[in-house]
Amino acid sequence: MQTQILDPVELTDCSTKIFDASGIRFEETIAADLWRKVMDHKWILSEKLGRDVGFRAACIDFLDNFEAGQDPHLGRQADLLGEMGAQYIDRDIWKTISDSQPPKQLVQKRIIRPLKEENLSKKHGVVIPKAIVFFGPPGTGKTHFVKAMAGILGWWFIEIAPSMLMAEGVDRIGANLRATMEKARRLEEAVIFIDEFEELAASRDEADRIDRSITNEFLKQVPLLKSQANKVLLVCATNYVRQLDTALLRPGRFDCIIPVGFLDDDGRRTILEYHNARINVGDIDLDLIVQKTRYFTPADLEHLYQLIAQYAFDREYETGKDFAVTTECILEKIGLVRPSLTDEVMTQFQEDVQTYSRY
Ligand SMILES: Nc1ncnc2c1ncn2[C@@H]1O[C@H](COP(=O)(O)OP(=O)(O)OP(=O)(O)O)[C@@H](O)[C@H]1O
Ligand SMILES: [Mg+2]
Repeated sequence: MQTQILDPVELTDCSTKIFDASGIRFEETIAADLWRKVMDHKWILSEKLGRDVGFRAACIDFLDNFEAGQDPHLGRQADLLGEMGAQYIDRDIWKTISDSQPPKQLVQKRIIRPLKEENLSKKHGVVIPKAIVFFGPPGTGKTHFVKAMAGILGWWFIEIAPSMLMAEGVDRIGANLRATMEKARRLEEAVIFIDEFEELAASRDEADRIDRSITNEFLKQVPLLKSQANKVLLVCATNYVRQLDTALLRPGRFDCIIPVGFLDDDGRRTILEYHNARINVGDIDLDLIVQKTRYFTPADLEHLYQLIAQYAFDREYETGKDFAVTTECILEKIGLVRPSLTDEVMTQFQEDVQTYSRY
């Protein structure tokens, strides 16, 4: 670990940098000393997590531990993040989602913007959602969207798989859930994601004893998480919103129940452009492809482009000549993919939107 030597100009800089990161103003010489320690701590944390944690996270974590009188190098936050499998998400994922792809505008308005403009939120009494549900048909991009949110916020992404909570047997699910949520309440700047939420929070009317107790645990845990001042966002996703317990869906628990539905032309175009940029494509008629993929989800589009990529690879491998993908080639592969969306799925989803959406 190298020791940093600072000139006088940098002394003021240290104080400002630490203030920007932590909101605490230190006298210049103390700040300079602290800055060195935070830089060392940043190095240790980054090694531990296998990525650059950044100055802000290191500074907050250091001060957190420093205040508690513990060895800062133990990195309480780092341990927690490591234990919970926290992932760093590239902020550019957000750009792969078109403004028209639901629910980008909504999340931007209700969550991202108020979090970024904290003073304005306080001034106008805007309460920033801390617990939300995403629902929608399979493959519509719910998981992708949650990751994109973590990326654009610069927060950690932590996925809690129901299977993880079930690993020690069904009797332990409630206790594991409680322990996990206790950890979540100690995190800073993290998006906690629970997929297949209906498996953990099924309606108590039809559930057996164990399932009922898990749903009850959730009913207790969500308000507890919301009552904390830390920056944590719980996002639960489900394909089957109808199966969730109605008490969980009532106001007071989740702040928002948000539909993630179909892509319109613009939404498909953005994803098609994303995939086209990753294959060896020639001159293609994008408008026509947008039209022909009306019933495709993002998952279907991904599958389609895997078929196209493999085909192009095989052709070039066999002939030894450059093979550029054409419109005809894409149309042919479109014919091989059965789109997930049907008029029936769309109608059912619209009914769910009417019944359950709240934001
Ligand atoms: N805007 C996008 N741009 C590029 N790829 C996307 C986009 N949205 C989703 N995808 C991709 O489409 C696939 C399906 O998306 P995702 O897994 O997020 O859907 P889901 O709604 O969570 O599905 P499930 O209900 O099965 O959990 C993923 O591989 C994802 O990376
Ligand atoms: Mg998913």
